[in-house]
Amino acid sequence: MKEYKIIKSKTVVDNLDGIVSEIEELEPIIRLQAAIPDWETTTWTYDRYNIFLVAKEHGKPLLNFLYEELKEVILEYTEGKTCWLQSWLNYDTHKTVEQNLREHQHAWPVQGYISINPKETKTIFTKKYDYEVINEIGNIYIGPGYRFHKVVNTDAYQGTRITIGWDITYKDPRETPESYSGNYGSRFIQIN
Ligand SMILES: [Fe+2]
Repeated sequence: MKEYKIIKSKTVVDNLDGIVSEIEELEPIIRLQAAIPDWETTTWTYDRYNIFLVAKEHGKPLLNFLYEELKEVILEYTEGKTCWLQSWLNYDTHKTVEQNLREHQHAWPVQGYISINPKETKTIFTKKYDYEVINEIGNIYIGPGYRFHKVVNTDAYQGTRITIGWDITYKDPRETPESYSGNYGSRFIQIN
């Protein structure tokens, strides 16, 4: 199993304000399209949409560039294997993030996240892994799935904490159980 890697996204670093604006415009659209009520988060409704598909549909050029960049990172890590991507928006505040991104794992072979504007937070990989990632603007984390992790605040901050979470599957989602493949059309992108 490959170890995790962190790659800097040029799209995010060079265009932070623009990409944050695109995401701020997209968040209510995602909620509307995926029927996400106020009391649910765009994180735990990850199986209802794919942020990069919504971005493409609504003409968000920076997110489209970021998708192309992410695809390169994934193709290198997965060594060109056939694979599919699901991806969602983590949209939090200082007050909500530790509850929303409390300890959990992703039951997929490869997982990652893009720190768009991660504010003052770190991601702690727990149980037998025991390592921390200080989250910085533009960092793309890619690593093996199934690792328990959580997000904690490291300092005070204002405003919205934004990251994009994603998972990779090597199995055609159309041939996996309904609980995994639900919303195939709006949720999975075949990237290779
Ligand atoms: Fe996670």
